[in-house]
Amino acid sequence: MTKKVALLGGSFDPVHNGHIAMANAALEQLGVDEVWLIPANQAPLKDRFLTDGTYRLAMLREVCKHNPKFRISDVELKRHGTSYTIDTLKTLTRQFSDYEFYYLIGADQAAQFDKWKDSKELKKMAHFAVADRNDKLEEIGLDKDFILLPMEPVDVSSSEIRNGKKLNLMPEYIRQYILDNELYLIWWIKPQMNPARFAHSNSVARLCRELAKAHGFDEHRAYLTGLFHDVAKDMPKSEMEKWIRACFPEAIDEHHAIWHGYVGSKVVDRVFGIHDPAIANAIANHVKGTSYDPYAMMVFIADKVDPLRGYDSSGLYHACLHDLYNGFLLVKAENKAFLEKEKK
Ligand SMILES: [Fe+2]
Ligand SMILES: [Fe+2]
Repeated sequence: MTKKVALLGGSFDPVHNGHIAMANAALEQLGVDEVWLIPANQAPLKDRFLTDGTYRLAMLREVCKHNPKFRISDVELKRHGTSYTIDTLKTLTRQFSDYEFYYLIGADQAAQFDKWKDSKELKKMAHFAVADRNDKLEEIGLDKDFILLPMEPVDVSSSEIRNGKKLNLMPEYIRQYILDNELYLIWWIKPQMNPARFAHSNSVARLCRELAKAHGFDEHRAYLTGLFHDVAKDMPKSEMEKWIRACFPEAIDEHHAIWHGYVGSKVVDRVFGIHDPAIANAIANHVKGTSYDPYAMMVFIADKVDPLRGYDSSGLYHACLHDLYNGFLLVKAENKAFLEKEKK
């Protein structure tokens, strides 16, 4: 019996629940034996640089571990240059001449199918199955060459995930992979803050990593702490107050400039899925320097000695690279003196 295979191409940068739902719909409704995920090298009509294929492949491998009928084809990654579907289908139909191929697309892609390279020839090489809501399929009035694959699409795009939105619409193991490999993370924090704070956050993250390296702590964990420490600082006060009332009612009478540390510690956990008590503690205490946990000391130091603050802190910073605890006390004393002078 010929094998029936559905192909799902995409940049998968990153893979998300929408891709998985589409592949499952093909398995259930088209009766295919397998779905092959085909990560693109550089998709046509797109000018963005894709994340290195090694990472995108690794994420797809994770997906396949959880979905036994999914496979990966690296035909496009191997080919280099721009990925055209026609080249992919030519290769696959040559290599697997007795297979029956279905190519999965969305209604938006079907609507501009004529723009695809060699679109007429494409239709001879595979059945094109259009997956989308019923009303969307009717709207574009598909011709008879397309197979309908009605499904409720998951409302998420890879670009939203790259920009830190709808992070719940990807599998937990993909989110973990992204965090472990520090993919997209600077774009996750960027929309949360003004440009100066974004530069500061990156600078603090770099210093945290350096301090952790100097003192033999987990550099990745220190980096995450630094990168996310001010994630709540530009949140509107009213919204911050909601978080404080819900999670830290005892802090409601503290000055609202202090709040962003507490709120940030919850945001990293609940919004960004960083479930690490040491990171949460460090962020919660970074404003006042009230924790002596190494990660808390490192982010407090990095935050205060960040060269972007515009004063020469190199002496202090070197003291901290040499001796974390005493350096931390020095920075704390200096910060206290600075704040008192400000008050006057
Ligand atoms: Fe802060
Ligand atoms: Fe900061």
